[in-house]
Amino acid sequence: MKIIMLGAPGAGKGTQAIMIAEKYGIPHVSTGDIFRANIKNGTELGKEAKKYMDQGLLVPDELTVRILLDRVGQEDCRNGYVLDGFPRTIPQAEVLDQELGKLGDAIDVAIDVDVPDESIIKRMSGRRACLSCGATYHVEHVPPKKEGICDHCGQPLVLREDDKPETVRNRLKVYHDQTQPLIDYYDAKGILKVVDGTQEMNQVFEAIMKILEK
Ligand code: AP5
Ligand code: MG
Repeated sequence: MKIIMLGAPGAGKGTQAIMIAEKYGIPHVSTGDIFRANIKNGTELGKEAKKYMDQGLLVPDELTVRILLDRVGQEDCRNGYVLDGFPRTIPQAEVLDQELGKLGDAIDVAIDVDVPDESIIKRMSGRRACLSCGATYHVEHVPPKKEGICDHCGQPLVLREDDKPETVRNRLKVYHDQTQPLIDYYDAKGILKVVDGTQEMNQVFEAIMKILEK
């Protein structure tokens, strides 16, 4: 199964993608996590991506597409994957469709996790992220078992650089300008499903399961 998670920054794409990936035993592929891992390790890719990410801007399509295609071409992605944060522009979606098409393959479903902007700003300031395994928490809604430590891998949790309120507002603007058009793109293909992302985390997951188990 090949699944795309759509939604504004902070809508809960990553939270749900991890749960879906665990349930079906398929990889969770997040371009944001790949970039953050590269920044942490000081690679050339990380240095390039950081220039854009710190301002809340998108990393250029050419670079992002290359990274993503390389990742989904790996052995563990053969039986499917959950894409989280990719595609983010129409050109990215088109390249993905073309590349899958060459293999006689296609995306099965695009799930839009719908959350209004006002709720997003509130969520982001409370988010804590694990830069090692990509898990996310929220100081109030989704606290880790031990404060400041990742439940999954035991590494310290951090407040992401791009979660400052002014950067979040910029990310939301970029989302509305460049990423929201993908909702119509996948709707036109007949594979769009929308879930209400303002519900409690497990309810959102239940709604997604209803879609996937049909
Ligand atoms: P990326 O890492 O993808 O960030 P994003 O889209 O801005 O999304 P987030 O990770 O911030 O939010 P999320 O939807 O995953 O929410 P989460 O589950 O954490 O990208 C970062 C940057 O990298 C981009 O700005 C760009 O520069 C670059 N980039 C990445 N991909 C790119 C691409 N394809 N092209 C170009 N550039 C790219 O949840 C948020 C918070 O809410 C958490 O604290 C969580 O615990 C909490 N929460 C989750 N669900 C609920 C709930 N139901 N109720 C209450 N709280 C909840
Ligand atoms: Mg995320």
